[in-house]
This record gives sequence, C-alpha cells and structure tokens, in this order.
Amino acid sequence: MQQNEVSAFMKRSIDHSLKQVPALPNAVMKVLDETEKNEPSAAKVEAIVTMDQAIVARLLKVVNSAYYGLPGQVVTVGQAITILGLQQVRNLVLGLAAFGAFASNSPKQAELLRTCWLHGLATAGSASQLGKEVGLGSKVQDLCFVGGLMHDLGKLFLLTQLPQPYAEAANRAKKSGCTLEEMESRLFGMNHAEIGQMLVERWNFPESLCTLIGSHEGPFTGSENPAIWCVHLGDCLTKDLYGDPELFSRVPDPVVLGELGITESRAIEIVEVAKVRAAEALEQLGAAA
Ligand SMILES: [Fe+2]
Ligand SMILES: [Fe+2]
Repeated sequence: MQQNEVSAFMKRSIDHSLKQVPALPNAVMKVLDETEKNEPSAAKVEAIVTMDQAIVARLLKVVNSAYYGLPGQVVTVGQAITILGLQQVRNLVLGLAAFGAFASNSPKQAELLRTCWLHGLATAGSASQLGKEVGLGSKVQDLCFVGGLMHDLGKLFLLTQLPQPYAEAANRAKKSGCTLEEMESRLFGMNHAEIGQMLVERWNFPESLCTLIGSHEGPFTGSENPAIWCVHLGDCLTKDLYGDPELFSRVPDPVVLGELGITESRAIEIVEVAKVRAAEALEQLGAAA
C-alpha cells in the first residue's frame, strides 16, 4: 500500500470515529453559550450546572481537592463560582464533560483516561501559573488553564477510539527515531493536535480554545497567542507523566522560551508544583475521572 493510500484510509477512519464521539451534555452546551456572552450571568450558569447532578458531583470533587488548596469545603456550585470565578468553573465543567465523552468500562481504557487526566491537569496548572509568572492577563491565564487541561484530547481520542493504529504509530516512531507527532502526520495525515481541534470544533468550543488545541505542538513563529506558548511549555515539562521517555520529547521550543522570557529551570520549578497538585486532584476525583 502506498503511503498516501494509508493516509487517505486513516483519514476516513478518523473522520468516521470522530462522528461516533458523543455530543456533550445539553447542560454543558448551555453553560458554554452563556459564558461566551459579553456579560454572562453567574446565576444562570449556577442554575444550569446545578440541574446536572453528575456534573455537580465531579465538579465539587475537583474544587475541594488539594489542587485548589481552598481553606473550607465548597458544597454548592454557587460557592464554587464565588470562590473560583465563573470562567474557572466553566473551564472545569467543559473539561469534565470532554474527558467524560471517553469514559470506558475497560480497565485499560480507564488507565489511559487517568493518565490523560493527570497530564492534562498538570499542564493546566503549569500553563496558568507560567502565564501568571510572565505577566499575562487573567483572561489569558484562563485560556492557559482550559487549553492545558484539554490540549491532548486528540491523543485521548486516538488512544481510545483507534488503539491499534495508534500503537502501530508509536512502534514505528520508536523504530525510526522520529517523534510520535511526526509519525502521526505520516500515518494519519494529521497529528493529534489537529485531530483534537477537529473534535472540539464539532463540540462548538470557543475558537481561541480550538486554535490552541490545534497548535500546541507547534511549529511556533512568535505570533501565536501567548497562552499557546504556556501550554506548550507546561506540556513539554509534564510529558514524563505519559511514562514513555522514548516517545515523548521534553525539549521546549526555543521560540517559546524566548517569547515568554523565562528560563527552563524556572519553568521546571513551577511545573513540579503543578504536577504534585494534579496527582492530588486526581486522587480526589477517583472513579469520577
Ligand atoms: Fe500534544
Ligand atoms: Fe501533552
């Protein structure tokens, strides 16, 4: 089979599998609509989220985990909004729903989901703290968080929906010495970042978030939204959480380090804290993840 035939076949498989991914719960779409308005209503968001008890339970578990280090127990969605802010609660609801679309009963898939959660939470915490450190505004820090949380949804999709072709891509990447992202492009016609962007565009996620997810693996020119740089840096420095150093490069793009004006050693200090918090949050989330 010719290389371009493989890609065409895989592209069709990916397209087909993307269509099988369930739509997000109605409540989540309503939260998304409300929070994209110029003047979103916290009361409306609270009412919408509160109606979906499955989301409420998972949301409160994360909010009350050591990840946020809040002094008291948060027992209602309204309290979560007051303490964390509307955007942060919106971001968690989106993240919980997006990962929830890949829930599985098989132990292997549950473990994959857990690993992706851990890496996503660690990247989210790293990216938002990096954004704060380099002086980005609160809106961009929010984008750092939600983008960090969901940047690898395309990888989660490939791992769970197309496990055999993805394992083959990983094997071939190891044998040929190229990166997994390069092998994805060769075999699938696109990498997991671009696949993730297609997925979240189907869910009508905000454009800035879709672009971030699609661009987090680079290439970088220095003209991107700085949130993309923070996510890339947090991503690179937490890739060890995927557990296969042969496959995952930990080398941040020099363009990104230069644009952010931060040293890799300082970034590592920030990321190490985020990793510990992510592990604690995941422990709290437990079966809900
Ligand atoms: Fe990635
Ligand atoms: Fe990643």
